[in-house]
Amino acid sequence: MVRELHDHWFKEAKREGWRSRAIYKLKAIDEKRGILRRGDAVLDCGCAPGSWLQYASTRIGSSGMAVGVDLLPLDPLPDSNIRTLQEDLRTVTGQTLRALAGLPEDSAFDVLLSDMAPNTTGHRDTDHLRSIDLCDMVLHRCTDLLKEGGHLVMKVFEGGEYPKLIQRTASCFEEVRPMRPPASRSVSREMFIVAMSRKPLIELDVRPDISEGPPPVPDNWGM
Ligand SMILES: C[S@@+](CC[C@H](N)C(=O)[O-])C[C@H]1O[C@@H](n2cnc3c(N)ncnc32)[C@H](O)[C@@H]1O
Repeated sequence: MVRELHDHWFKEAKREGWRSRAIYKLKAIDEKRGILRRGDAVLDCGCAPGSWLQYASTRIGSSGMAVGVDLLPLDPLPDSNIRTLQEDLRTVTGQTLRALAGLPEDSAFDVLLSDMAPNTTGHRDTDHLRSIDLCDMVLHRCTDLLKEGGHLVMKVFEGGEYPKLIQRTASCFEEVRPMRPPASRSVSREMFIVAMSRKPLIELDVRPDISEGPPPVPDNWGM
């Protein structure tokens, strides 16, 4: 714990005024792949405590809008191009998210970000499968929430089902590249799937189980 609290990225984030060390993961991905642009409408899934929203806000500028959704409450951010909502991404409606972003009913987001993590149990396979389920849910939500040609960045915990998740993502996007930013901890099995340019039609053969109620509130976020 002491090691985690005092690592290089944690100190940098504190010094630079970001809410979490996770900022440096998105920044590295964005600098490499050019995900975020001025004027973009961005949906940040699993946004608390808010560093990805802070970063997205600086990249999209005042003509853009970043909407963050999380199970957990978020201390308000002062930026005028950020809106947040405490909800489960499994159940929140597209209509609600579009309205928050000020998007017309028939429109969608330019970029979807997901740093969502399940409430980790310490059992590697269980955590992996729960993470895969969250990613499948995000892919399904892309059909409605992400524009054709839009980009997706999502976190996953690697394991046996990971190659199939990459295949499913590749069936929805023109280009898919896994990335492991330097700020990811060496002991962590997290990987980021960077998927560019959503195809016109998304066809998935796996449906995430969205019939259950909200999952338990995460306490460690797998960070
Ligand atoms: C690693 S944290 C995100 C950190 C964030 N990217 C940042 O920069 O501050 C993961 C978040 O995902 C959220 N989460 C997990 N499952 C979710 C769900 N079904 N709907 C909404 N948020 C969820 C958790 O509550 C947690 O706050």
